[in-house]
Amino acid sequence: MPTRLYSHSASPRIESDSEFLTAFRDFEFDRDYPVDVCEQSACHWTPIDVCQMAAGWLIEKPGMRVLDIGCGPGKFCAIGATTTLGHFTGVEQRGRLVKAAREMLARHRIARVEIVHGNITAVSFDAFDAFYLFNPFEENILPMLQIDHEVEMEPQLYDDYTLHVQTQLERKPLGTRVVTYYGSCAEVPECYACVKTAYDGTLKLWVKTRVEVEEEEPGPCRFPHLI
Ligand SMILES: C[S@@+](CC[C@H](N)C(=O)[O-])C[C@H]1O[C@@H](n2cnc3c(N)ncnc32)[C@H](O)[C@@H]1O
Repeated sequence: MPTRLYSHSASPRIESDSEFLTAFRDFEFDRDYPVDVCEQSACHWTPIDVCQMAAGWLIEKPGMRVLDIGCGPGKFCAIGATTTLGHFTGVEQRGRLVKAAREMLARHRIARVEIVHGNITAVSFDAFDAFYLFNPFEENILPMLQIDHEVEMEPQLYDDYTLHVQTQLERKPLGTRVVTYYGSCAEVPECYACVKTAYDGTLKLWVKTRVEVEEEEPGPCRFPHLI
């Protein structure tokens, strides 16, 4: 546990588990997870400073509700909830990671986070104001990104998941914010504009700036005498 190894003498006064958590460096944070989850962090879980910046971009006012699309062991949700006044929900398809997330959140008594075990295709985005994605679906098309063998991988699933997220994001109101970390960002519909980047362009803030226009059926000709 990082708690035992943390040097209190070298750190500022920390009042609660939540504050204590954000004082961790990634290595200290990650080794609180089971070994298999810890070992995957460098490649698959968002670093603490990136989580903090992303959450700050997403939470415009207290109480905003963020969905982490593919939350892994809950690192973004935990850091987001301890550094902002937002509410964070993570949806995760792998049971092993859901368990690691829930145990970590309970150990540190982190409030305003919920972890849902399931597939993103079963989640409606109606209950959320803002969204975070760290390249969740590309493991279906790039075997080197595959996290484990717990769930089925298929190129078709990449298309299905991407389309679901696109469709849900298209329905959100103007001004909706999405942050992406790495990835092709194919999940973000064209009605969103990238307004800010950080970490060499790997972290992007997108805002819905225009309404998606449905393609119209050609109507009756208004000038039939010209045909
Ligand atoms: C690169 S990890 C990012 C984890 C976390 N968001 C973070 O930033 O630390 C992507 C996660 O998305 C999950 N995932 C991928 N496809 C999913 C789907 N269709 N439904 C739910 N979770 C999914 C994976 O299991 C993995 O844990």
